[in-house]
Amino acid sequence: MFQVQEKSGSHEAVVVGLFEGEISRFFSEIDRLIDGQLTALLKEGDISAKKKAVSKIHTLGKTDAKRYYFAGLGKQDAYTTEVLRQTLGKLFKSLKGTNISNVAVMLDSFVTDRMDALEAAHITAEAYCLASYELNTYKTNKKEERSVPSITVITERDQQEVQAALTVGCVHGRATNSARTLVNLPPNKLTAVELAAYAVKLAEKYDMDYKILDKEEMEELGMGALLAVNQGSTNPPKMIALLYKGKEEWTDVIGLVGKGITYDTGGYSLKPRESMVGMKGDMGGAATVLGAMEVIGELRPEQNVVAVIPSTDNMISGDAFKPDDIITSMSGKTIEVLNTDAEGRLALADGITYAKKLGANYLIDVATLTGGVIVALGNHTTGAMTNNESFYEQVLEAAMETDEPIWRLPIFDRDKERVRNSKFADLNNSPGRDGHAIMAGVFLGEFAEDTPWVHLDIAGTSDTKSEHNLGPAGGTGVMVRTLATLLERFGE
Ligand code: BES
Ligand code: ZN
Ligand code: ZN
Repeated sequence: MFQVQEKSGSHEAVVVGLFEGEISRFFSEIDRLIDGQLTALLKEGDISAKKKAVSKIHTLGKTDAKRYYFAGLGKQDAYTTEVLRQTLGKLFKSLKGTNISNVAVMLDSFVTDRMDALEAAHITAEAYCLASYELNTYKTNKKEERSVPSITVITERDQQEVQAALTVGCVHGRATNSARTLVNLPPNKLTAVELAAYAVKLAEKYDMDYKILDKEEMEELGMGALLAVNQGSTNPPKMIALLYKGKEEWTDVIGLVGKGITYDTGGYSLKPRESMVGMKGDMGGAATVLGAMEVIGELRPEQNVVAVIPSTDNMISGDAFKPDDIITSMSGKTIEVLNTDAEGRLALADGITYAKKLGANYLIDVATLTGGVIVALGNHTTGAMTNNESFYEQVLEAAMETDEPIWRLPIFDRDKERVRNSKFADLNNSPGRDGHAIMAGVFLGEFAEDTPWVHLDIAGTSDTKSEHNLGPAGGTGVMVRTLATLLERFGE
């Protein structure tokens, strides 16, 4: 997919990294070929080395390269993987729809003491594959798809190693794009049935075992929490499980549990009309988990993984569950429903219990769980909670490595008391507004019990209202890269 070669030839366009206040050998060489014009252009501000600046020059036949695209990488001491990813994303996006069919990327111009060639290659491919993502639309007067040029990577480093790093970077990018597509699908086209069909296709493609439970099987297993959420719907629920066996023995199994609410009206605790729009994205956790499984399927690490997705929409009808209902979860714990809009934690409760039944020794749940996490952390930081310090450390490390920020919220015994406070049942599903992002996590912790567990609330980060350097408005595929990285590294 990416061609790797040692020397550049003649190219329609060549991409070169520029650092502020530094004249690299790449810069000097181009400058020499165009008689010192590059220095002049930099001085006059026609090209910029400021971070995330993208500038372009045409060499009017003076060099083998027709054009140069400069990626501004800022000052070297503030250079990070995120600066490189963002800048290249912006640059690759600007190439969309041009006549350029192939660009050469001078990989070694991104390499510093702080970033080696393999890391730079991974980021380059990831940025390229993310930035290439286009929304699927249902417009009848569709414009032709804007094509993205293919890439030739020029490097003096080990070509095979660079090629491998490029492949991994692009696998991460593409799986993130798959998650974005799922999030963007409208709720009449993506119900639990379709989500299950997607998961089965994925499992078959990558030779994974799978189990899709239908309503009767759920009833037999006593999944009263997920079933309660589904009660008001005409669409059948699905409990989706994919099993990836990367070791001889089915031990040290990591369970990924993703919230798969394909539409959240709130149920009888109905959402106001403004808050309902966008709730097609309430299966963002499921999308993330499936994206991570795609990476696992492609890269096949020596790891056991079980992905579980409890899926339904949350609707109203004469059959729907109501506030004051008392339901029994698969774990046996009873729950007093105080708010039908706190449905995610109900579905996930059975998802977590089922993941444990399938052998999960570690648990990560991913969910667009609460508006509260958006109030607390905004739209760029995923909320996290845990019952196990060292497992959390590993998730945090993976999140930092992939530049997907997470921030932890606490669990104190006082918080548990609020979730356990019910006259009639073991738990209640909505202890009130105060700290409600925490309450949702604490509720899930009651089902994880002693199994090391990390909760990721992506309500604020799973989709975005505006276009950005690495993609369009809509689903972000957040946490796919973090989970993939965790699974590639876990236990090392
Ligand atoms: N799906 C929502 C959370 C959400 C809100 C996701 C905004 C994305 C954007 C969830 O099911 C929900 O409705 N949560 C309630 C919980 C409350 C009833 C305790 C909320 O956050 O208001
Ligand atoms: Zn809800
Ligand atoms: Zn929801």
